Amino acid sequence: MSNIIFYFSGTGNSYSIAKGIQKEIGDTILAPLLKAKDYKAAEYNIVGFVFPVYYVHVPEIALSAIKGLSLGKGQQVFAIATYAGSWGYALQDIREALSDKDVILQEYKIKTPGNYILEYGAFPRAYQEYILKKVDTQISKIAGLILDNKKTGYIEPNLIARIFHSKSDKQRNLFSEIGSDFYAKEQCAHCYQCVKLCPTNNITISDGNLIWGSKCAQCMACIQWCPQNAVSHPLMKENRRYYTNPNVIINKSGALELKENISRSTYKN
Ligand SMILES: Cc1cc2nc3c(=O)[nH]c(=O)nc-3n(C[C@H](O)[C@H](O)[C@H](O)COP(=O)(O)O)c2cc1C
Ligand code: SF4
Ligand code: SF4
Repeated sequence: MSNIIFYFSGTGNSYSIAKGIQKEIGDTILAPLLKAKDYKAAEYNIVGFVFPVYYVHVPEIALSAIKGLSLGKGQQVFAIATYAGSWGYALQDIREALSDKDVILQEYKIKTPGNYILEYGAFPRAYQEYILKKVDTQISKIAGLILDNKKTGYIEPNLIARIFHSKSDKQRNLFSEIGSDFYAKEQCAHCYQCVKLCPTNNITISDGNLIWGSKCAQCMACIQWCPQNAVSHPLMKENRRYYTNPNVIINKSGALELKENISRSTYKN
């Protein structure tokens, strides 16, 4: 039986890493983590999860999808947390979420460019390039370890995460209160890409206007991918630079897709 990798990704970092691992280990299908219950995960040889770190944890919606999965006794499972500064408690979250499942868990983390535009703009271009070059090397290394079914150690929270844990909690709580305060500016072209892209179907159309509901997973996809830079939020500062993974595009169905035959990546900034 083949392998399956479930991904959760707003701006394409986790998605492109999932695609990279898929290519390296072969015989693997990719599926959105939020659709995981549509798959019989226990029937696959290897099950992988690739997801971003939010507020030094696994995004709640991603964690509950993982918890809800049925997995086989002794099944090989790997988790890759993508992060921009601190992976925090993410792998510990996964370990705890799978603790009653009797699987063999491999833990990995990969540093990526940051995407939390409500806090900061895109990293400088040269730094993005530097990080993404290292990502490629890490994909090959991790794929080799996955194929070898090598035992990995626990990835525990680093010092920064421990020090700033309560600050991150406050930020997360603040965002849960004002998460639905996104709005579309005048330059909106009514293409509705954001509506198709939103992983929680949180954006609806009423009389041609966009309305953000209360189910926001904070993935930043709507704001970062908008072709008109028309999505905003009270926490968004003027002239903040946008970021999406330069190797990923949005296809006609409004889904993330790896650029095929690209001779060069497209950086937004
Ligand atoms: C709401 C939010 C919170 C984030 N919190 C953290 C964090 O605590 N630590 C960190 O290193 N990166 C954090 N990031 C950055 C992302 O984890 C990182 O850029 C990730 O690769 C994005 O993945 P994606 O492109 O697949 O969505 C955060 C991003 C968002 C949107
Ligand atoms: S993606 Fe941007 S331009 Fe298209 S509907 Fe959404 S806000 Fe408007
Ligand atoms: S509303 Fe925007 S930020 Fe929130 S989950 Fe949907 S696409 Fe992501």
